[in-house]
Amino acid sequence: MHLLSENLPFSTGKLCFCQYNKLKFVTVKKRVIVCGATGKVGGSVIERLLSEKAFRVVALTRSSGSAAAEKLRLGGAEIVEADLADLESLLRAFRDVHAVFAVTQPWDSQTGRYNVAKEIIQAKNILWACRETGISHLIYTSFLNSGQRQTGVSFVDSKIRIEELIMAFKVSYTILRCGPFMDNLQISTERGRIAGKYGNETPVPYTALSDIGRLADVVLHQPASYKNTILNLFNSPVSGRQLALAATELTGKKFIYIAESAVVQYFRYPETLKLRLYFNRNKVSFNRTVNLCPTEVSGKRFVLKSFGAFLSELPPE
Ligand SMILES: NC(=O)c1ccc[n+]([C@@H]2O[C@H](COP(=O)([O-])OP(=O)(O)OC[C@H]3O[C@@H](n4cnc5c(N)ncnc54)[C@H](OP(=O)(O)O)[C@@H]3O)[C@@H](O)[C@H]2O)c1
Repeated sequence: MHLLSENLPFSTGKLCFCQYNKLKFVTVKKRVIVCGATGKVGGSVIERLLSEKAFRVVALTRSSGSAAAEKLRLGGAEIVEADLADLESLLRAFRDVHAVFAVTQPWDSQTGRYNVAKEIIQAKNILWACRETGISHLIYTSFLNSGQRQTGVSFVDSKIRIEELIMAFKVSYTILRCGPFMDNLQISTERGRIAGKYGNETPVPYTALSDIGRLADVVLHQPASYKNTILNLFNSPVSGRQLALAATELTGKKFIYIAESAVVQYFRYPETLKLRLYFNRNKVSFNRTVNLCPTEVSGKRFVLKSFGAFLSELPPE
């Protein structure tokens, strides 16, 4: 007899006949599968869930023999091999799973280009597999936007489309909208340098990867509270110049910000340049929507990690 109800977290109890036929209440941890487990986003979720030990953590990867998968196995995750492009493999992977943490991949490493058509197929497969296997809750990592249906940035527009598909699919969901990861900034505290993809004056609403893990954990513990909601998981926009100022104030050492050349981006990373221009155009809208992340969880304040906090936690070089 399962005691799981919509208002209980996925880790719950069960009455069982144990040794000597005694009726005993045992804890049965629910299985949560994490897509992109060997990557940055899924990795932050896996790390959090494994340290909290409330769920049985299943890591989805295309290659169970990789060094990254082996590391997850040693950390306590169960490894399941599946490809987001292959619905049958997802149907097998999602069997006996209660919740799915999903991340889709617009970047095609084979061609070295974005392929958002493939990303949308991945999302459709995830949704079909969730529905067919009776998944209780889906958490999807999306990208922030300021309310338009089209931004002109392919991997942002694909997320807008995927959000629409999720809402239409009638699975219980929580969407986490993230900004560029502050973890991708190249920071040298010794040399006083921060290098990033966006301009000195471009206002960027950054997200710390560890916040994705923290918030996914919160949602998995209180799925009903976050059912069919979108949470904005990014800080107030800061420019490169402001990042350098903050680092200088925090460390007492002079920092400078070095922006990737827009000309190089124009020729080599046009989608990044489009996103940079999109941020330049949308300063005000992001500020208006920034507080949609929960500010309190189970009676405790929930604060997104600021750049200052992120910087102070960096390991020494
Ligand atoms: N970069 C940013 O600042 C930023 C900000 C917000 C949102 N995002 C979004 O975050 C996502 C990227 O996540 P990430 O940075 O964690 O990526 P990542 O570090 O490049 O990792 C990609 C992961 O996806 C898995 N993967 C790729 N193709 C797959 C497939 N066909 N089937 C199953 N798994 C597959 C890989 O697993 P295996 O190789 O083990 O199979 C790997 O774990 C994108 O949707 C991006 O738009 C990025």
